[in-house]
Amino acid sequence: RDDVVMLGIETSCDDTAAAVADLLSRYGGVAPKMAEEAHSLVIDQVVRQALDNANLTENDLSAVAVTIGPVGVQKARRIAGQFSLPIVGVHHMEAHALVARLIEKNLQFPFLALLISGGHNLLILAHELGHYLQLGTTIDDAIGEAYDKTARWLGLDMRKGGGPALEELAMEGDPNSINFSVGQFLGTCLFSQIPMKQHKDCNFSYAGLKTQVRLAMESRKISPGSDPISLTNSEGRRSRADIAASFQRVAVLHLEERCQRAIEWALKIEPSIKYLVVSGGVASNKYVRARLNHVVENNNLQLVCPPPSLCTDNGVMIAWTGIEHFLSGRFDPPPPDNEPEDAM
Ligand code: KG4
Ligand code: ZN
Repeated sequence: RDDVVMLGIETSCDDTAAAVADLLSRYGGVAPKMAEEAHSLVIDQVVRQALDNANLTENDLSAVAVTIGPVGVQKARRIAGQFSLPIVGVHHMEAHALVARLIEKNLQFPFLALLISGGHNLLILAHELGHYLQLGTTIDDAIGEAYDKTARWLGLDMRKGGGPALEELAMEGDPNSINFSVGQFLGTCLFSQIPMKQHKDCNFSYAGLKTQVRLAMESRKISPGSDPISLTNSEGRRSRADIAASFQRVAVLHLEERCQRAIEWALKIEPSIKYLVVSGGVASNKYVRARLNHVVENNNLQLVCPPPSLCTDNGVMIAWTGIEHFLSGRFDPPPPDNEPEDAM
C-alpha cells in the first residue's frame, strides 16, 4: 500500500490544476495552476505536465481522483479507461480539509475544520473519513468573496488576487480606524448589538460588512473601482489602507468568534478533538492564521494550517483525498476504454 500513486485533477472553480501524490507524500508534479475558464483548452497540458514533473507516466498510477466539473471528469475517465484505473470522486471542500492530514501526520479524526474560500465558509466536525457534521455555513457571501469585492472596489491590482492585494494594503492601515461590524443588515446601524452574536449557531454573514465598506468609501469620496492611480497619492492611499485594515479586522473577528463557539460545541460532541484545521484560499492570509492561532491556543488545541500553496485550490489536495478514499475502498471501477463522450 506504500506505493499508491494518485493523479488528482481539479477543475471545479476557475483554475485548472493537476498533481501527483503518493502515500509517503512525496508529492510532486504540481502543474502550474492556470486561471483559465476554458479548462478544456489546457487540461491535457496540465495533466501531462504534472506527470512529467513527477517523472511518472500513466502506467505508474494506481488511480485517478477528480472533483466535480465536466472537463476534469471527462479527462479523468479517459485516462482511467485507457489505463484501467479506478476513479475516485472527490468533494472540493473535503479536499481542502483533508490535505491537512498530508502535512500533519498526527492529525487523526475526529477534528474540527474551518474552510474559508471564495465560495464557501464552513465549520465542519470531521468524525471520520466521509463522515462530516456541518456546524456552520455562510448565510450570504463567503469571506473570500468579501475580500475580492472590497479589493476591487478599492481599486487594487487584482492580478495577484483580491485577497492577497487587500492583505498587503491592510498592513499600512489602522485596523481600528473604522468601526465596521458583521451581520448588520442593510449596512446601517439598525441594531445596537451585532445581531449575529445573538444567535448561538456557527453560521457566517458577510453581506452587511460589504455594504458598510461601500458606505465608508462613499463618505470618504472614494468611488468604487476608481482609478488605482490615486493609490499613489498618499492621502488616498492612507484612507484606503484604513478601510482595508478595518475590513480585515472585522472579517477575521467574525471567524474567531465562530471558531470559539464551534470549539465549545464540538468538544461536547467529541471531547477527544485536539486540532483545528484552517484551510481554503483565505487561510493563506497571515493575519487570519495568527488570529486563529490565538483562539486555538486559548482552547489548548493545535492549529493545522497548510502552506499557502496547499490552501488555495491545487491538485495535490485532490490527489491526497483520492488516496484516503482509495485506501478505504471508496472508488469506482475503471470505466470502459474509448467511452463515448456523451456517456461520461
Ligand atoms: O480555495 P480557493 O483557492 O478557491 C475557492 O475554492 O474559492 O479560495 C480563493 C479565495 C479568493 O477569494 C481569494 O481572494 C482568497 O481565497 N485568498 C485570500 C488570500 N489568498 C487567497 N484572501 C485573503 N488573504 C489572502 N492572502
Ligand atoms: Zn477551493
